[in-house]
Amino acid sequence: MSSLQAPRGTYDVLPADVERRLALEAHAARILGAAGYGRIETPTFEATELFSRGVGEATDIVQKEMYTFDDGGGRSLTLRPEGTAPVCRAYLEHGMHKLPQPVKLWYLETFFRAEAPQRGRYRQFWQVGAEAIGADGPETDAELILLLADLLAALGVREPRLKISSLGTAATRAEYREELAAFLHAHEDGLSPEVVARIDLNPMRAFDASDERTRATMAGAPIFLDRLAPEDAEHFARVRELLDDADLSYVIDPTLVRGLDYYTRTLFEFTSDALGAQSALGGGGRYDGLIEMLGGNPTPACGWAAGVERMLMASAQPPDAAPSSDLFVAVAPGDPAAPRAAFAIANEARRAGLSAQLELAGRSLKGQLKHADRLGARYVAIVSAEQQASLKNMESGEQTELECAAVIASILRGHRL
Ligand code: HAM
Repeated sequence: MSSLQAPRGTYDVLPADVERRLALEAHAARILGAAGYGRIETPTFEATELFSRGVGEATDIVQKEMYTFDDGGGRSLTLRPEGTAPVCRAYLEHGMHKLPQPVKLWYLETFFRAEAPQRGRYRQFWQVGAEAIGADGPETDAELILLLADLLAALGVREPRLKISSLGTAATRAEYREELAAFLHAHEDGLSPEVVARIDLNPMRAFDASDERTRATMAGAPIFLDRLAPEDAEHFARVRELLDDADLSYVIDPTLVRGLDYYTRTLFEFTSDALGAQSALGGGGRYDGLIEMLGGNPTPACGWAAGVERMLMASAQPPDAAPSSDLFVAVAPGDPAAPRAAFAIANEARRAGLSAQLELAGRSLKGQLKHADRLGARYVAIVSAEQQASLKNMESGEQTELECAAVIASILRGHRL
């Protein structure tokens, strides 16, 4: 084995893994496409400022997890750690505010975070995401949540659980932050040093702490949902009503915190107990201030992203069996013209829409037949001379002698393609 390995926290997608990933992509395209979401792709790297401004200076992502580099021309670039800020940047850059609103976009891309790798947590990972920009009604939030629920159901994800909350608006949150920061300062003795260090930077993260002492202290902390302004409380109630109407179960989790600073109002996350420690399948929420923060007009928006690796890990669907092949073209020893004729048959088969493989490793005839079996070939053509082949139907065992030129037509007839 070579001493060179894939970087820590990254993985190779091997052919055996591809079918399930393609199926996931097809489900996402079908479910999101049917709801009017158009696919978008943005660059793998962006100006660092997009994330420091968009995701938030105080977040772990910006403080510790970004792959940032100088492009050699004095510009600071960052491998995208998430997709919402880039999609909003594209919305502004392409004047999408002039299109009928909301603009609904989805993506399936790789993202990069320098986190400590563990099961379900990678440094390069994939997300499916959906963003609806330019609508503030609760229908948008509920529709997005239902679309993610549909995707998880289509993938056979085991035990998905939905948590929802509301973060209100920036103004009510600012008042609450002060109240919470005052509570945290008054209880510093009962908090971990990391939480104390962040009280003034981001007091909400205290709800995220995992140590027992902090959690016990936080049980007595003021709860934001009790402080929502009436219009935010109404918005949240209507989102819940729409989810109830759709028979989607959820729990209201007033301590739900997500590691990005742009959220306002609705916040949600799907988890699965099938995943272990990294139990978040995907989540998102409303981010009504982000477009303005990036230089646009005030524009409401909502969206989510879900981890591809985690959805596949939590999916009960067994890996697809290796796709079988229509035809394997073998070469019988003897006639030096046979390999060329075999090559032509395989080529013609693929042009006719069949899946076909050719002997490429110089195996004996016996070895070739064994290999054809391994590939699950439905037919094997054994070419013995420029114009002579025998075609074996591997299911029925029936074998016919025929001219090379007749092989494909014979398969197509038997195949009823
Ligand atoms: P996020 O919660 O940071 O949200 O990531 C969404 C999902 O991506 C997570 O629930 C998880 O499944 C997956 N994920 C995150 N980090 C990793 C990792 N290191 N390894 C494997 N999977 C990971 C966002 O990124 C927001 N942009 C979501 C959003 C869209 N909010 C509004 N619109």
